[in-house]
Amino acid sequence: MVTETEKQTLDAAPIRVITRGDVLRMAVLEARRNGKSIGLVPTMGALHEGHLSLVDASCRENDLTIVSIFVNPIQFNDAGDLERYPRNLDADLAALRSRNCNIVFTPSVEELYPPGHETYVEVGPTALPLEGEQRPGHFRGVATVVLKLFHLAPADRAYFGQKDYQQVLVIRCMVRDLNVPIEIRVCPTIRELDGLAMSSRNVHLDADEHQWALALAQSLELAAELVERGVRDKDTIIQRMRQHIHAAGRIDIDYIALVADETVTPVKKVDGPIMVLLAAHVGKTRLIDNRRIEW
Ligand code: PAJ
Repeated sequence: MVTETEKQTLDAAPIRVITRGDVLRMAVLEARRNGKSIGLVPTMGALHEGHLSLVDASCRENDLTIVSIFVNPIQFNDAGDLERYPRNLDADLAALRSRNCNIVFTPSVEELYPPGHETYVEVGPTALPLEGEQRPGHFRGVATVVLKLFHLAPADRAYFGQKDYQQVLVIRCMVRDLNVPIEIRVCPTIRELDGLAMSSRNVHLDADEHQWALALAQSLELAAELVERGVRDKDTIIQRMRQHIHAAGRIDIDYIALVADETVTPVKKVDGPIMVLLAAHVGKTRLIDNRRIEW
């Protein structure tokens, strides 16, 4: 008996795995010459349904979808974090085979950063606060690798997750400021059934930590409820979120911030659409999450 998933896998065209940048570029340019629209989904692998939702969006909107899997060393400011980062190429390829992804780009570190590599994207003020403050150099590393991927896979559209809100803003700025001819598409955050935002790092959480981590998404819901009930003051909202998180378990909050939508500019009062952003350590695992609140 062939299951539905197996059938889809058998029906799907085989995935082409490419490790060299010049080979990828040739394949993409040829597809473009043949009139195909191209979608690119940059990832660091250890794929979950969040990543796969981007792949699905790209497959819906393009003739050809490329997924890159590359744990980009220059965006890690903590060597331990880079070493611990989950890697599982076989499982990733199996997951991508069950979707309609056409090309997987899995370069080595030497392929993207050969000896002598010395040029980086200089990111601006959008990259300074929040994640930028907690992880110096992070967005410089992200912007540099994403620009390289945009050159190696000159796609019509590239897909990113709203979960990494500030990353999206930094990439949008880069594309605008450096005249990169690509459309940035942003997809909603995919969550576990219990509300935890999916993340490759979730595999590091033990059962207790997973339970504690639920308080993060819950605190974002709490913020939305407070606004709904008429609370407008930033400090009150943040204080109530902190209380909720600390009551849940052993969590170290890096930051909770209320910013004007589509910016990293803090707001004092909620009097328009805002984003609530948070980052926290649950045990050794650093998690981020966010929620848009319309007002
Ligand atoms: P990574 O963390 O692997 O995420 C790849 C893409 O998946 C990002 O655009 C991220 O926002 C999105 N994503 C992650 N979790 C998601 C979720 N729960 N729901 C929806 N989308 C989600 O972000 C990176 O890699 C890197 O910084 C990268 C852009 C690949 C550059 O190295």
